[in-house]
Amino acid sequence: MTLACALAATTSMVKAEDVEVLHWWTSGGEAAALNVLKEDLAGQGIGWQDMPVAGGGGEQAMTVLRARVTAGDAPTAVQALGFDILDWGEQGSLADLNDVAAQEGWDAVVPEALQFFAKYDGKWIAAPVNVHSTNWVWANKAVLDANGIAVPETWDDFVAAVETLKAAGITPIAHGGQAWQDATIFDAVVMSTGGPELYKAAFIDLDPEALGSDAMKEAFDRMSFIRANVDDNFSGRDWNLATAMVINAEAGFQMMGDWAKGEFLNAGKVPGQDFLCFRFPGTGDQVTFNADQFMMFDQGGVVSPEQAALATAILSPAFQSAFNVVKGSVPARTDVSDEAFDDCGKQGMKDLAAAASSGNLFGSMAHGHANPAAVKNAIYDVVTAHFNGEYDSATATEELVNAVEGAQ
Ligand code: GAL
Repeated sequence: MTLACALAATTSMVKAEDVEVLHWWTSGGEAAALNVLKEDLAGQGIGWQDMPVAGGGGEQAMTVLRARVTAGDAPTAVQALGFDILDWGEQGSLADLNDVAAQEGWDAVVPEALQFFAKYDGKWIAAPVNVHSTNWVWANKAVLDANGIAVPETWDDFVAAVETLKAAGITPIAHGGQAWQDATIFDAVVMSTGGPELYKAAFIDLDPEALGSDAMKEAFDRMSFIRANVDDNFSGRDWNLATAMVINAEAGFQMMGDWAKGEFLNAGKVPGQDFLCFRFPGTGDQVTFNADQFMMFDQGGVVSPEQAALATAILSPAFQSAFNVVKGSVPARTDVSDEAFDDCGKQGMKDLAAAASSGNLFGSMAHGHANPAAVKNAIYDVVTAHFNGEYDSATATEELVNAVEGAQ
C-alpha cells in the first residue's frame, strides 16, 4: 500500500467523535432550545456529550471552563458571551474557523455587532447562535387585565402599575436576587433614566462623569423602587423561577432578557393571550443586546470534523429559525424570515434591525457585551450591594465611579 493509500484509508476510517459542549442552558426553555441543536447533530451522526453548568449569565460556566483549560482538558465547544470570547481569542486558545466561515459566507450575513465579538485578529473564533436583548418586560396578561392595567409606556406608568398591583395584594415584580439578574434590570433602568447617551457614556465609554452623574443616582433610586416591590423570598432565586411566578399569576411583571420567553412557551403559554412582552418603559427605540456564541477550542491547529459540523449547523438558516423560535432570541443572521416567529419574536427582529440602523443598538453591560469581565464584575458588585441596601443611591453612585476606575 502506498503512503497516499494508507492515509486515505485512515481518513475514511475516522469516525466522527462526540462533541463535548459546555453550556449553562439548564432551565426548561433553554433545554428545549438546546435539544434542537442536539437533534440536528444527531441527524448527522454526531453524538453529544453534555457538560451543563447551571447559572444564568454563565459566570459559573466560565469558572469551570478556566479549570478545564488549566488542566489541559478543554471541551470541544463552549457557550460564551461577548468580551469573554475576545479574552479567549487573545489567549490563543481558540480554533480558527475562517475556512468554515468562508465556505458558509458568514461575513455577508452575520450582523456587524456580532462579528465584533466573533472574530479576533481577523479570524472567526466563534459561531453566533442568536441575538438576545435585556430591555424587555414580561407580564401576566390576566393579572394586568384584572387590575385594569395597560402596558406601561413610561417610568411613571410603570410606577402606577406597580402601585396598583401592590394595593391589590399581588407581588408586582418577580425577581431573583442574584448579581447578574440585578445587573440585567440595571441595563434597562439606566437606559430608561438617562437615555442612550447615559448608557453609552457610562457603560461603553466608562466616562467617570456619566458614572457619577445625577442621572445615575436617579437610576439607583429607581432600582430602590424595584427592590421595594419584589417579594420577601427574592434573594438567590433563579431567574426561571421568577419567570414561573409571572406564568402562574403569582406576580405581575418580570424584567428579564428574552430567554424568559422560552419559559413561557415551554409552559404552553401564548404571547398576546397569556403573557405580554414589551420593551422596558422608556426604552422603546433601544436594544441592549447579548449574543450567545459557541467558541471552538483549538485541537492541535486543526478544526475537527465535529467542530466544523457544529459551527456549520449553528449558522444554517433553518437552524437559526428553529432554535431561536424556541429560545426566545432572534437569529444571528440578517437573512432569516420572521415567518415562524411569534409576535414577540417578530417584534424582536424588527427592533433589532431598527436599532442597528438608528444607532440605538448597544451591548448589554450585564451580559458581557459592554466591557471585559473585570469591569462588568465591578459594576455588578456595586449594583448588588445597593439593591440589598448596603449603599444608598448617592453612595452607590460614588462607588460605581471608584469600582470602574479600579477595574481598568
Ligand atoms: C444569558 C444567555 C441566555 C440565557 C441567560 C440565562 O447570558 O445569553 O442565553 O441563557 O443567560 O441563563
